[in-house]
Amino acid sequence: MDNRIWRIARRPEGTDFAAALELVEEDFAPLADGQIRIRNTHLSMDAGTRMWLSDREDGYQPPLPVGGPMTGLVLGEVIESRAEGFATGDLVRAFGQWADVSTVDAVMSGAILLDPTVADRRAWFGPLGMNGWTALWGIERTGAARPGERVLVSAAAGATGILAVQIARLLGCEAWGIAGGAAKCAYLTGELGIAGAVDYKAGDVGARLDTAKRDGSGFDVYFDNVGGALLDQVLTRMNHYGRIAVCGLLADYTAGTRTAPKEFDQVLMRRLRIEGFFSPDFMHEGPALTRRLREWTESGDLVMPYDVTTGLENTLTAYAKLFTGANIGKVIVELTP
Ligand SMILES: NC(=O)c1ccc[n+]([C@@H]2O[C@H](COP(=O)([O-])OP(=O)(O)OC[C@H]3O[C@@H](n4cnc5c(N)ncnc54)[C@H](OP(=O)(O)O)[C@@H]3O)[C@@H](O)[C@H]2O)c1
Repeated sequence: MDNRIWRIARRPEGTDFAAALELVEEDFAPLADGQIRIRNTHLSMDAGTRMWLSDREDGYQPPLPVGGPMTGLVLGEVIESRAEGFATGDLVRAFGQWADVSTVDAVMSGAILLDPTVADRRAWFGPLGMNGWTALWGIERTGAARPGERVLVSAAAGATGILAVQIARLLGCEAWGIAGGAAKCAYLTGELGIAGAVDYKAGDVGARLDTAKRDGSGFDVYFDNVGGALLDQVLTRMNHYGRIAVCGLLADYTAGTRTAPKEFDQVLMRRLRIEGFFSPDFMHEGPALTRRLREWTESGDLVMPYDVTTGLENTLTAYAKLFTGANIGKVIVELTP
């Protein structure tokens, strides 16, 4: 049986993924001890993986090698196993190859067994997956948001941000989002009912953020997915003793820049705490986080729209959406059997 797999031919420039990634057909190698083979039904498109495609060595993860397979979160059924605890037919999520079939070491890939009774398995990528864990951790733990506080989230209509604004509200905060375009802002305030949304593509984002102010008071928590120039706009609008939870730096991923805030002195002036956080660091708390996220999801309090592209061959179109802003919610590739 042949497998189709995306390989990294060269490092991408900007969003030109077609010049960098190639879909090739390959035979399977025999399964080694500890490995499982997963027939992928879904691939998760995650913006952070763009960093693994660059050659920088000082990221939170070493670069994926040129010539190697493109890697990301995959969901599917085990079709062959030489790993303890995994059997044919099990539903699993793991860091695997963008391919029809992923072959992974069960331990190294973080493979976990999933409850097949969850009605929409895509939730294992969204609210019940890495995006959910990240959103909850960033709002509650790193951001230390308290009821009544005003919480601002950037890239608020994307997978992580859409959960972060809803979780902030569920924890009793006043949630604000920053997103690109009127349609996304209307979704956030209209469909999700958060307190306000600021379109950063509509000009003078500072003045737009000022509309959130009450009696001169700004934001207590900033859940930042973006960094870059937006961060400067927010730094000067943070309340004293505010917290900035640095989740991601989308402004830098395809531009190749490095965020260096001009308004950094506000950290002292306003006695702010800025702290980065990274989901693999709290993987061990995954089951407890999932329990809470599942309750909110099943009660309908936490929702996730999905942006689904069908067919492994169309993966790059889906991936690019994360960097052009074409998505609302979680971008997923659904593989045809
Ligand atoms: N720390 C962690 O453990 C962790 C885990 C998961 C995700 N993350 C981070 O979470 C963030 C969101 O990732 P995701 O996978 O959930 O993607 P996503 O939010 O579903 O998609 C990315 C969104 O970001 C916005 N965007 C793209 N480039 C931008 C730019 N230059 N300036 C402002 N906004 C931009 C786009 O929406 P607009 O239309 O609004 O521009 C786009 O829809 C990323 O920074 C990622 O690294 C971190």
